[in-house]
Amino acid sequence: MQIVAVKDKRELGRKAAKVILEVIHKKPDAVLGLATGGTPEETYKELVKDHRENGTSYKAVRTVNLDEYVGIDPSDPNSYHSYMDHNFFKYIDLPEDQHFLPDSLATTDHDCARYDDLIDSLGGVDLQLLGIGGNGHIGFNEPGTPLSIGTHVVQLTDSTRKANARYFSSLSEVPEQAITMGIGTILKSKKVLLIVSGEEKAEAMYKLVRSSVPESGFPASALIQHPDVTVIADRSALSLIK
Ligand code: F6R
Repeated sequence: MQIVAVKDKRELGRKAAKVILEVIHKKPDAVLGLATGGTPEETYKELVKDHRENGTSYKAVRTVNLDEYVGIDPSDPNSYHSYMDHNFFKYIDLPEDQHFLPDSLATTDHDCARYDDLIDSLGGVDLQLLGIGGNGHIGFNEPGTPLSIGTHVVQLTDSTRKANARYFSSLSEVPEQAITMGIGTILKSKKVLLIVSGEEKAEAMYKLVRSSVPESGFPASALIQHPDVTVIADRSALSLIK
């Protein structure tokens, strides 16, 4: 696991975008695994800026998102479909039939397995972008999730619902379940890019660098088994690490 320290969220966005662009430049039809949330916002801004200024094309790129809330309509402003449109897709030339998110309304085991099949049929993920939850979740794999699991439906923890309530008008509106790529799905990616920002992630970052064995109580620890993980973290996220 390679750790890259940066000053702040801005620099994190620039560095993360650079890693993603290297993959696209090398392989114009790359499969990108994408994340939502506050941390990647700057990264998407940088990618959009690069698309405008340097013309990097996404015409052949395929994208698969990590997760989506269960029961939410894709057109709902709080859906991850909307997040991706609003932060990234509407500004680039990625064809509409080349971006995929888990279906919030198709949540049987069979439906979940179909998302993994879809990823396999695209040739697997070349680069998976990840954020991390304060409790160590990756995707929406909450503590206790088996480390080899594929795409599945999860019950969100109170801490995750509270952390995400900032996007909703009240905590009660935050869905209780999500459909997420599993840790097994994530580990199949050829390359993983984890971005970590802010003091509220310092403890999770500390635990991650201290992890010597993968344990389901701290899902991000599964990443130590992966041969190609880059972590870009800002000063506040690294504040507990001497
Ligand atoms: C989002 C996702 C989550 C977030 C994590 C951190 O698609 O899978 O694991 O990456 O909850 O969220 P932020 O970046 O909002 O702190």
